[in-house]
Amino acid sequence: MTTVALKDVTKVFPDGTVAVDNVSLDVNDGEFMVLLGPSGCGKSTVLRMVAGLEDPTTGAVMLDGELANDLPPRERGIAMVFQDFALYPHMSVGANIAFPLRLSGVEEGPRGERVADVASALGIGDVLGRKPSQLSGGQRQRVAMGRAIVRRPGLFLMDEPLSNLDSGLRAELRAEISGLVRELGVSTIYVTHDQAEALTMADRVAIMRKGVLQDVGTPTQVYGRPATLYVAAFLGSPRMNLLEATVYVHLDRYVTLNLGEQALYLPWDDIRARAVAHYHGERIVVGMRAEALTPVAPDSPGDVLQGRIRYLEHHGHESLAFLDVGATAIVVDDLGGPVTEERPTGAGRGLRRLGQVMQRLTGRTGGPDQSSLDVRSPRGSRTSVLNDPGRHHRRPAELAVRLAPYPAVTAGHPMAVSVRMDALHFFDERGDRIDVGWR
Ligand SMILES: Nc1ncnc2c1ncn2[C@@H]1O[C@H](COP(=O)(O)OP(=O)(O)O)[C@@H](O)[C@H]1O
Ligand SMILES: [Mg+2]
Repeated sequence: MTTVALKDVTKVFPDGTVAVDNVSLDVNDGEFMVLLGPSGCGKSTVLRMVAGLEDPTTGAVMLDGELANDLPPRERGIAMVFQDFALYPHMSVGANIAFPLRLSGVEEGPRGERVADVASALGIGDVLGRKPSQLSGGQRQRVAMGRAIVRRPGLFLMDEPLSNLDSGLRAELRAEISGLVRELGVSTIYVTHDQAEALTMADRVAIMRKGVLQDVGTPTQVYGRPATLYVAAFLGSPRMNLLEATVYVHLDRYVTLNLGEQALYLPWDDIRARAVAHYHGERIVVGMRAEALTPVAPDSPGDVLQGRIRYLEHHGHESLAFLDVGATAIVVDDLGGPVTEERPTGAGRGLRRLGQVMQRLTGRTGGPDQSSLDVRSPRGSRTSVLNDPGRHHRRPAELAVRLAPYPAVTAGHPMAVSVRMDALHFFDERGDRIDVGWR
């Protein structure tokens, strides 16, 4: 199956928009690569350049090791599936799937066989005679998939194929699609803005922001060792807690991470202490996911933070407590969803919540793009995420902590959490991972 290599690919549209900024990326034979990022970050443009529907401004698109910049789309052996796929309404399901084969002159007998094979693989064998209007949304999406598969392409390009479907169906189809594609062994580039979709489906995930590739790796790698603050904030739910910390080195003993009212201590024999020690006297960002925090008795020894519950969120299978520990959080903007919006305290919060509900109902995210945090921003202009008081990207931290469903605590309760020090992430003020070692 087809391999893809993008080499320093940039796309500048005639109006000056830099949609893709110096992206290099390899897709291996049979690999399921997910391109992940918020709306407008350049995912579709990458896909369209691979398909040959858009020319790179600079850089090379290689298919199977050969330069393909000038190869016409139809000679690339590619099938595309889009979000707003269009089926021919007047044709039956069978005729829709058969259409690409008819175009390329496959005869009726073998055509029928291939359509039947594909349809049964997709579980739509019994609706071949129906018109698209007589199908459910999920069935229609399967027909669109069938039409792409039937040509036996060497490469699938899928652009948010599930985002018009409701969430139950989306979960079902994402398992189906990744299963099917793997069975067929076809290399795939799958575009989504949904981090859960990316983490569940991908062999590897490539995360983009404003045209710039931020990180590439297996779901375990990008989730477990995000290369930038942006990636750390984008992946996972609840979002990673990102706290501002000042570093103090007590040579040969420990490194203090001063979080404001409280501190955490990295013992000197922790291999990461040496790397963090370079930032003596400076501010860094300490990331801790909810899974690094465990509620403990208030007087517990060890790596413990004392806090007070600001508010609780009940999610049915679990509850989340948001803890005030007297620290400052770094808010990463430009993540594309309402989850990241600042949570005002007190009365304003209810109103903001209502606004979020309305946004969900109306499908609008609202407001202008407020991408103010320049974590590895395009064109190499790199601004500190910590020293920019004119922009709203710092706020009192509310540490997300997982609790059992409907716990016997309420807002205002004190709570202590033990911190798994080995699960902390460290980022410098530009948003790059501070680390030792490698993946
Ligand atoms: N034909 C075009 N002309 C000018 N700008 C474009 C064009 N197509 C896309 N863009 C811009 O390029 C950026 C990336 O777009 P796109 O690749 O569609 O993002 P995504 O698929 O990640 O939502 C956006 O800012 C978008 O407005
Ligand atoms: Mg798009």
